[in-house]
Amino acid sequence: MAVSFAPSKTSKSACRCRLRSTDGCPRRHAVGTPLCLPVCARATRPQLPYTEAVLQETLRLFPPLPFLMREAKEDVDLGEGRVAPKGSTLVLHVHSMQTSGDLYPHPERFMPERFLPDTKAALGPSDANAYAPFGVGARMCVGYKLANFVAKAVLVRIYQRFRVALHPQQRLPLRMKTGLSRAPADGVWVTLHPRQPAGSAPPAAK
Ligand code: HEM
Repeated sequence: MAVSFAPSKTSKSACRCRLRSTDGCPRRHAVGTPLCLPVCARATRPQLPYTEAVLQETLRLFPPLPFLMREAKEDVDLGEGRVAPKGSTLVLHVHSMQTSGDLYPHPERFMPERFLPDTKAALGPSDANAYAPFGVGARMCVGYKLANFVAKAVLVRIYQRFRVALHPQQRLPLRMKTGLSRAPADGVWVTLHPRQPAGSAPPAAK
């Protein structure tokens, strides 16, 4: 089965893709729906540190919102003699920052280990503020925990049922489209191979 994961502005499409299984929810709500989330988040939240790190690394290389904007409420000293006067619009280019060689070792490589406790010091950002897919400061995304939880729940359910492989027609490197948001231009084509339920006979050899 070939599937295209269409690009989404944030996690809206993940939310739309509701999971109808009720296995994981103590109150038998459909997993991933608004009714279930507050209960499941407490009762069944898996820790899954590597999955979490994969999500973080994905949002580092592919932040859906590639820049943040702020209006200067007063003159801002930008260093090296440059000052942004009060009222000017400041744009922080998150994608450039998160892929900068000054801030990340081997910035072009996909390395979830950057976000694992044991390897964070060596591979993670040299400055904690250099990671901002959900923004920074007082206006930071209010939905980031929900987005993370839903993304993890969706990934877990997919990987429990399928092995996922890149579809041969998917060209690499991924062609991205950048406007107000940044997303794969043609989605991402993958092939889903159903997993054998535990204890079932393997398929007959051809
Ligand atoms: C992967 C998913 C998501 C990403 C990458 C994302 C990213 C962002 C970013 C970059 C901002 C601007 C922060 C800033 O200016 O510093 C933002 C703001 C915001 N986000 Fe998200 N977001 C996601 C999911 C969600 C979800 C699921 C919700 C709601 C349930 C949400 C609600 C909001 C709201 C209300 C704001 C405005 C906060 C404010 O201006 O005070 N986001 N988000």
